[in-house]
Amino acid sequence: MHSSINKRYALELAEENKIAEIAEAGSLWQAMRREVQARADFEPIMATFFHATVLNHDSFEDALSYLLASKLDSSVVSSMAIREIMQEAYNAEPAVIRAAEIDIKAIRARDPACNSYSTPFLFYKGFQALQVHRVAHWLWHHDRHSLAFYLQSQVNVIYNVDIHPAAQIGCGIMLDHATGVVIGETAVVEDDVSMLHGVTLGGTGKESGDRHPKVRQGVLIGANASIIGNLEIGTGAKVGAGSVVMKDVDPHVTVAGVPAKVVGTPNCDCPAKDMEQDL
Ligand SMILES: CC(C)(COP(=O)(O)OP(=O)(O)OC[C@H]1O[C@@H](n2cnc3c(N)ncnc32)[C@H](O)[C@@H]1OP(=O)(O)O)[C@@H](O)C(=O)NCCC(=O)NCCS
Repeated sequence: MHSSINKRYALELAEENKIAEIAEAGSLWQAMRREVQARADFEPIMATFFHATVLNHDSFEDALSYLLASKLDSSVVSSMAIREIMQEAYNAEPAVIRAAEIDIKAIRARDPACNSYSTPFLFYKGFQALQVHRVAHWLWHHDRHSLAFYLQSQVNVIYNVDIHPAAQIGCGIMLDHATGVVIGETAVVEDDVSMLHGVTLGGTGKESGDRHPKVRQGVLIGANASIIGNLEIGTGAKVGAGSVVMKDVDPHVTVAGVPAKVVGTPNCDCPAKDMEQDL
């Protein structure tokens, strides 16, 4: 039963390769539309959803603003108002949209459970939560703090992901599973970082001002790791699941345990991309 479902669900390999070619040639949006049309043909019961979220739209940013606004609305702030804010941010700062595209490609490349570009867009809350954060971050820098906090709070309620709007997050980020991720106000997450569910980038509670971790490029952080204080996780480092990190971690080392200690060296320069989680 299970294998027959998988067979019917999967695109033919040749079609999957063609779609990847289209995405890599610069048209992620066309690649996603092609996938989603195939999904709608295959699963008519979901066709309305696929049309509303992707096929009815002319561009990636139109579709993204629609999808996120439909998730975030409430009786006090309508989805139409939220969508306008998102479009305002995308128009003013196209880098917000470029980052979303890079995130999708990163997830498609890294997550062994994901063989399409539309899956993170439609179904992965880590991707969606991060895209709302990107808009909240833009609002924060335009001194629209109430609205930024509103988006942060809705993301927390809906996705169980809590990212302060001021936190600086690069692109090519994968928040895998994402439940329980907490990222504090002065945290920095550079490009090409992957983190699993339950990760905390928090303060010690004893400091004020710049008090949160700085996670450098290519880092992989295992599930439920707590990284506490204004410390640095060096480029290409790996942090084991459940670790408590309270000191700087050198580049290209693996740390694990409570408190975290060096237990090895990653087998590659960029563990976040390889998602090397070997236990
Ligand atoms: C740290 C990790 C990346 C492995 O790195 P590694 O360099 O291959 O490390 P090894 O497996 O060789 O282990 C080295 C030592 O660290 C210990 N260790 C590994 N991971 C640990 C962890 N999370 N906590 C405590 N100790 C750990 C091992 O027991 C071993 O100890 P020993 O030398 O006394 O036998 C991996 O253990 C991990 O935690 N991955 C994250 C997985 C995850 O988040 N999964 C969620 C999927 S949904």
